[in-house]
Amino acid sequence: MEYARATARAMHEDHMAALTLLDRVDQFVMEQPADAPPDGSQPATRMLLSDLKAAVHSEITEHFAFEEKALFPILEDAGADDMTGILKGEHTVLLPLGQRLADLAGTASGEGFTGESWTEFRTVAGEFVDGLRGHIDKEEMGLVPALEDILDEDQDMELIASYKFD
Ligand SMILES: [Fe+2]
Ligand SMILES: [Fe+2]
Repeated sequence: MEYARATARAMHEDHMAALTLLDRVDQFVMEQPADAPPDGSQPATRMLLSDLKAAVHSEITEHFAFEEKALFPILEDAGADDMTGILKGEHTVLLPLGQRLADLAGTASGEGFTGESWTEFRTVAGEFVDGLRGHIDKEEMGLVPALEDILDEDQDMELIASYKFD
């Protein structure tokens, strides 16, 4: 789907990047034995852990904040407060999961996993991957097309400038 509005496009692109990362996290967890913590110093593992940490900061934390501060109020003015209520509630659950996962990833990429941190990583990753996939599906069906409909060109330019260049 190609969107005419830059803001709709930016949200869509962030979502696609996040889904790619979630697939990598999912695959990483599935490939490793549950009862043997993976070696955090392996280059591929270190790269995944550092990508995960960076994505939680940008594609998750900043993206969520922009949706809540800049986009949801516009949708609410257009009468879509049922939708924003659900999405906000999901952010509240997903953000701490993502931040916990980023912390675990940060520690593991320096020190490796312990039995305990690996068990926690697997649990939190499972909840985060499932939850965020569902959330993105909802936004791709509701939020992104709504932005495309509602925003006029000036509003779109202002929003995208505040997202990308602030
Ligand atoms: Fe989003
Ligand atoms: Fe969201």
